[in-house]
Amino acid sequence: MNDLDTFSLLLADEGRALLASLREYDPSQELAVATRLRREHDAGLVSAALGQARLRQRAVAKFGAADAHRMFFTPNGVEQSTRASVATHRAKAFAARGVRGVADLCCGIGGDALALARAGIPVLAVDRDPLTAAVARANAEALGLADLIEVRCADVTDIDTAPYDAVFVDPARRGGRQGGAAHSASARGGGRATGGRIFDPEAYSPPLSWAVTTALAAPFAALKIAPGIPHEAIPPQAEAEWISDGGDVKEAVLWFGTGVTPGAVRATLLPAAADLWTAAPLDAPPVGPVGRYLYEPDGAVIRAHLVAEIVDRCGGRLIDETIAYVTSDEEYVSPYTSAYEITDQLPFNLKKLKALLREREVGVLTVKKRGSAVEPEEIRRRVKPAGPNSATVFLTRVAGAPTMLVGHPLPHPTGAPPRTP
Ligand SMILES: C[S@@+](CC[C@H](N)C(=O)[O-])C[C@H]1O[C@@H](n2cnc3c(N)ncnc32)[C@H](O)[C@@H]1O
Repeated sequence: MNDLDTFSLLLADEGRALLASLREYDPSQELAVATRLRREHDAGLVSAALGQARLRQRAVAKFGAADAHRMFFTPNGVEQSTRASVATHRAKAFAARGVRGVADLCCGIGGDALALARAGIPVLAVDRDPLTAAVARANAEALGLADLIEVRCADVTDIDTAPYDAVFVDPARRGGRQGGAAHSASARGGGRATGGRIFDPEAYSPPLSWAVTTALAAPFAALKIAPGIPHEAIPPQAEAEWISDGGDVKEAVLWFGTGVTPGAVRATLLPAAADLWTAAPLDAPPVGPVGRYLYEPDGAVIRAHLVAEIVDRCGGRLIDETIAYVTSDEEYVSPYTSAYEITDQLPFNLKKLKALLREREVGVLTVKKRGSAVEPEEIRRRVKPAGPNSATVFLTRVAGAPTMLVGHPLPHPTGAPPRTP
């Protein structure tokens, strides 16, 4: 039986009932559960249902329990899909432009198509993988959105997008992410290491150049790309957005067409949807001594190269020209940064740190680092924090010199706790 046949068994009444019974299933009991179910059901159906139940559990983090337990997944599909918070944010941007129909080219299991349909927009969802397309179709039905989503199993390069007033492309880029593109990138000289990964847009499927050409032909378009895209690789016609959720950078999006400001950059911080935007990024910010406050910009702000905006807004400076820690003498409250009050600055010296923390009776030590090779665990092991108080230590560089800054977090304006590394 091939994958599609197995999947259609899961969609039949017996398969659906079996899956529903596995909602709370504990994967550590798989053998016992499988043995019991095989007494009443076909072995192939049982293993497909158990596999699907595991995927649903994995998908809860992206889609929430209510949807994840109604939806269907493939292992790659759940991995590559856009999380609901991000897809909903993007769908709102399409709806705000009055878009009446989107061609979702490379729809996967439908993460974006479902959010677009929920925003009231009719979607043509295209994927060339037959099982993935079947799963997307099942998801549209499962969430009551089949009237708004037409799923087509086809190569996106064969689709005529002219009837749609907007296009969304989310190319497959697993090979590139895992470093599999390294060889082809260096062979063509087109690859670029970004944070240890190789950015090779032509290794995307379909290649980014095809996606950009298709986007430019549409009245309005968005392309999802890896957040590590070097800024030089962004087409001049695009506005670029970096999106983080709960402090983790999830993706970048290139926007094209009506209402878009070419060259503009934006950082969007979910779940609050705080948004920092500029049409003209500022020049390199000033560098100077550590003041009373230290700010750690959200990853989306850093990726969008908007740290200079933060420096400007807080009237501060960088502590080192290569490090994204901002400092100021006056307190600056913003959703774009986690803020700390700094009480001590020491040259890198574990003995001194240990003595200081002992004097302050610090038992709960948060270690953050930027520009230091030392492992936080190593620090905790060496200084052996003990006592009723808590503190944060930053291992970093100040004007090039390895430095330790000790302080404590200020409340975050969105109420979110300061993030751990
Ligand atoms: C990153 S996933 C899309 C995820 C989707 N946005 C979601 O949220 O579920 C990329 C998809 O593109 C499909 N794909 C890659 N090249 C394609 C092509 N040339 N034509 C159609 N689909 C393609 C893959 O099968 C894969 O399912």
